[in-house]
Amino acid sequence: MPLYREVADDIEQLIHQGTLAPGTRIPSLRKTSRRLAVSLTTVMEAYRLLEDRGLVEVRPQSGHYVKLAAANAPPEPARTPTCDAPSELDAADLIEQLVREASQPGLVMPFGAAVPAPEFLPISRLNGLLSRAVRREPIVSQSYDSIPGRPELRRQIARLAVAGGSSLTADDLVVTTGAQEAISLALRVVVRPGDTVAIESPTYHGFLQVLENLHVKALELATDPREGICPDAVAEALSDGQLAAVVVVSSFGNPMGHRMPDQYRRLLVQRLRAARVPLIEDDTYGELGFEGPRPRTLHSFDQELATEDGAGSNVLLLSSFSKILAPGLRVGWIAPGRFRKEVVMQKYASSLATATPTQLAIADYLAAGGLSRHVRKLRRSFKDLVRRMITEIGEHFPSGTRVTRPAGGYLLWVEMPEDVDAFALHRAALAEDISITPGPIFSASGRYGNCIRLNCAVPWSDTVARAIRLVGELARSQTD
Ligand SMILES: Cc1ncc(COP(=O)(O)O)c(C=O)c1O
Repeated sequence: MPLYREVADDIEQLIHQGTLAPGTRIPSLRKTSRRLAVSLTTVMEAYRLLEDRGLVEVRPQSGHYVKLAAANAPPEPARTPTCDAPSELDAADLIEQLVREASQPGLVMPFGAAVPAPEFLPISRLNGLLSRAVRREPIVSQSYDSIPGRPELRRQIARLAVAGGSSLTADDLVVTTGAQEAISLALRVVVRPGDTVAIESPTYHGFLQVLENLHVKALELATDPREGICPDAVAEALSDGQLAAVVVVSSFGNPMGHRMPDQYRRLLVQRLRAARVPLIEDDTYGELGFEGPRPRTLHSFDQELATEDGAGSNVLLLSSFSKILAPGLRVGWIAPGRFRKEVVMQKYASSLATATPTQLAIADYLAAGGLSRHVRKLRRSFKDLVRRMITEIGEHFPSGTRVTRPAGGYLLWVEMPEDVDAFALHRAALAEDISITPGPIFSASGRYGNCIRLNCAVPWSDTVARAIRLVGELARSQTD
């Protein structure tokens, strides 16, 4: 663990113990540097991390103070361990049922679905662009689109990818029916039945569904709630030569919202490249960071190395517009690198082509140039909603609850005391028309029976606050 994180953890513990009470000044940079015998730069980085964690604030010319709300903020979950062995998968039916329940109509509060509420999406503008597209090209629905998708959309996607450091042309891209089809295509071309694929733990359940469908085993690797999959765990898993691929969400993962540091990104890409094990990078939440510049993709690090060693790409990068524009339009994409030919053939076998009108609407939206402003607004709103939800959880969930501090996106991972049963909590909440997502569907081996994932992308209101309070009360009633 980097030294500055140890320093930040040390001070965070003092805050949670009440030794550093809300509103008090924390020791100066110099004092902490002397007390812990570390450099001033390390302490500065640690204090910045504490700010990111929402625990301290800077008062100009005065110093760092413990935030008033910090006392209520529950601690973060610990890094998860690597599983002893790969798991056979057998949960597709359960995942399908829970995902369906999470988004059923008529819910008072859809904390279970990983989609932003309609208030955050430019739905009416996209509807207008859809009808404009079909007026402009009246026979667009009369024929199949080309397999890789509309060139004008692929050109726009290539432009967007520049912000993540990836250098792509329209020819490098294949448009897909959402990121989910891209995941399915990527896995289909790199694995065979009986193979083992390494995944984060917890991981996005959509990966598990595809792996099960392909009769592939999943190996859950150690994952840090802030930094994502642990590169040393990947190195260890690679050492026995059994991995067919690694699948990660490098930025603002589902469910933990981690952001992999650049040095880990480089290391991971280097190791997988050296072993010639393909890396599937899901960048679906990449635009939604709360602070700083947009993270660089793993793909961009791989491109750098490919230029040096001339051995071609090893990363299949994929994403979609579901989390920032409209999940129902089902427009995603993949940059399959050296697997392009196989991915195009799989796409042909899977769906012939993506629906054309929706591609045109998204291409027109991107060409009009409003995306950056829209995404900046989303980042601000989601950051605020995530912060409010953490405070609310701190007040109403059982003591001993831990919650992530996502660096972006809008999902929270909540780890409750061992005696809370996430499935029972899900059923009790659903009876009150509130959906949540139980933890075990994010694991290949049935871990996380006391965890849930919550979607914070719902506009704040008394109803939201009441609903989260009720979920907390239901969880507490299991611990009494
Ligand atoms: C990490 C991740 N990848 C992919 C998807 C699927 O996205 P799409 O709607 O574009 O198929 C999701 C949806 O929740 C997700 O969280």
